[in-house]
Amino acid sequence: MTDKLFKASQDEEAITASIEDLLRDKIGMSGGWLSFSDYMNYVLYEPEFGYYNNRSEKFGIRGDFITAPELSPVFAKAISNELIPMLSEMKNPKIIEFGAGSGILAKNILKNLLEHKSLDIEYKILEVSAVLRERQKKNLNKYRSMISWLDNLPSQPFEGVILANEVLDAMPVNRFVKKKK
Ligand SMILES: C[S@@+](CC[C@H](N)C(=O)[O-])C[C@H]1O[C@@H](n2cnc3c(N)ncnc32)[C@H](O)[C@@H]1O
Repeated sequence: MTDKLFKASQDEEAITASIEDLLRDKIGMSGGWLSFSDYMNYVLYEPEFGYYNNRSEKFGIRGDFITAPELSPVFAKAISNELIPMLSEMKNPKIIEFGAGSGILAKNILKNLLEHKSLDIEYKILEVSAVLRERQKKNLNKYRSMISWLDNLPSQPFEGVILANEVLDAMPVNRFVKKKK
């Protein structure tokens, strides 16, 4: 049983081997070690083999993890119920979502907000994974006129809300920082 659960496909084995080779090269090139944040950056975001950029399915039953918005629209509904009164008080409200995954949270939030006809919303997604960005564009096709994709946080102040679900732990961070006293 355990064997079945954790058996990687040939494709996954190939991706793992490629990322291992890449890490060996990077460690070699940087004098025998890598910082935790560089390591995390390569394994998650290397453009071809990094977890969020490679061709694996990731979310849902054909993937290897699931998040609350993927499980049920109730999660988006609960967030929408909080957003509606807040956004209704703003003149030109924007929502910025970090790391939108498959785009399912954006899709269900927009569906809920559109039921409130008075709300004119701009929805922006900041997504580092090129593969997931494409998946989001496909899954959010119906709402394309309301959505745009950002490469960076806006440089100007804006009125609205920033959303992120299960993203902080996917950000490459420095575990330890040594400072001179
Ligand atoms: C665990 S998934 C969560 C996806 C989605 N929010 C959900 O709840 O289903 C993490 C997401 O964050 C994205 N991500 C990771 N680091 C990011 C960063 N620095 N800026 C924006 N998105 C990031 C990943 O590409 C992926 O879409």
